[in-house]
Amino acid sequence: MRKKAAKTRSLLVQQLANGEFHSGELLGELVGVSRSAIANHIKYLTEIGLDVFSVKGRGYRLASPIKLLDKNRILALVGQKDKTTLEVMSVIDSTNTYVKDRLHSLPQGFVCLAEAQTNGRGRRGKSWVSPFGSSIYMSMAWTFKGGYQSMAGLSLLVGIAINRSLKKMGIKDCKLKWPNDVYHNFRKLAGILVEVEGQVGSDASAVIGIGINIELPNTVDEIDQPFVDLVSITNKAVDRNELVALIILTLTQMLSEFEIKGLAPFLAEWKEADLFYNEYVYLVSGSTRIHGTSKGINEGGALLLENAGKVTPHHGGEISVRRG
Ligand code: BTN
Repeated sequence: MRKKAAKTRSLLVQQLANGEFHSGELLGELVGVSRSAIANHIKYLTEIGLDVFSVKGRGYRLASPIKLLDKNRILALVGQKDKTTLEVMSVIDSTNTYVKDRLHSLPQGFVCLAEAQTNGRGRRGKSWVSPFGSSIYMSMAWTFKGGYQSMAGLSLLVGIAINRSLKKMGIKDCKLKWPNDVYHNFRKLAGILVEVEGQVGSDASAVIGIGINIELPNTVDEIDQPFVDLVSITNKAVDRNELVALIILTLTQMLSEFEIKGLAPFLAEWKEADLFYNEYVYLVSGSTRIHGTSKGINEGGALLLENAGKVTPHHGGEISVRRG
């Protein structure tokens, strides 16, 4: 039953995607349900963030057209023939959870994408607002033969990979905030959630979760920090399929190098994009607050803080420039 509803909604969204008006009656005929069932499905889609409205006598329309995620197009752009390496979902609880639950049966570099998440997860137990069709929600599976030790700095590498991909799309002025946020003009554009599984002394696997704001609906107000989306930065439509393909290509290539050489080859790239390099910052971890001048990162991905001429590495906490 739930599968059928999901299929119906997916067909419905495909019809609405062009941004034109569609009558409830015609939509019902096209997807094979009654007009009142259409109204219920639309209600659900609105609840999960699809910006759709209705006008009496004309029907339903999206606030703006959406180019939906397209599995075949992404595979073609990546040059990947094996269809088992990518899953594109319409609505899911969390792409990270999907990959995490299947981690040991998935091929290396497998990617799960979704149009919307009902339980998108952020770092430190926060939720990640995930409205339909307005962002990139992706998770990649990667197993490290070298175990935990070979993963030091992984989330920083992912930030660098996103920044590289954005640059290739012509978006050149993004910054990286330690440990793993992508910023534009001091507003958050993307977040990374890396979840790790494995035992000491054997292979370790990571779920690499990436959320990038593309065109968030005006109705989004639950985000507890300054944020921005790509369309506001570029003032033009962003092809999510192209960006996803670029990230997959860039990240897989960088992960292969990272597995052998670690973070060292990427340090200069981090420094160039470091949001707080040479800034006086606070590092907040629980009730502890350490301050110092940010001197970038080391090969283990630790934040380097300088105090009275002494530089010390720090692994945990959130960086802040607030005084007090
Ligand atoms: C952060 O708090 O900054 C990390 C946000 C990570 C969000 C992404 S969206 C895709 C993947 N699935 C999730 O549930 N979370 C990550």
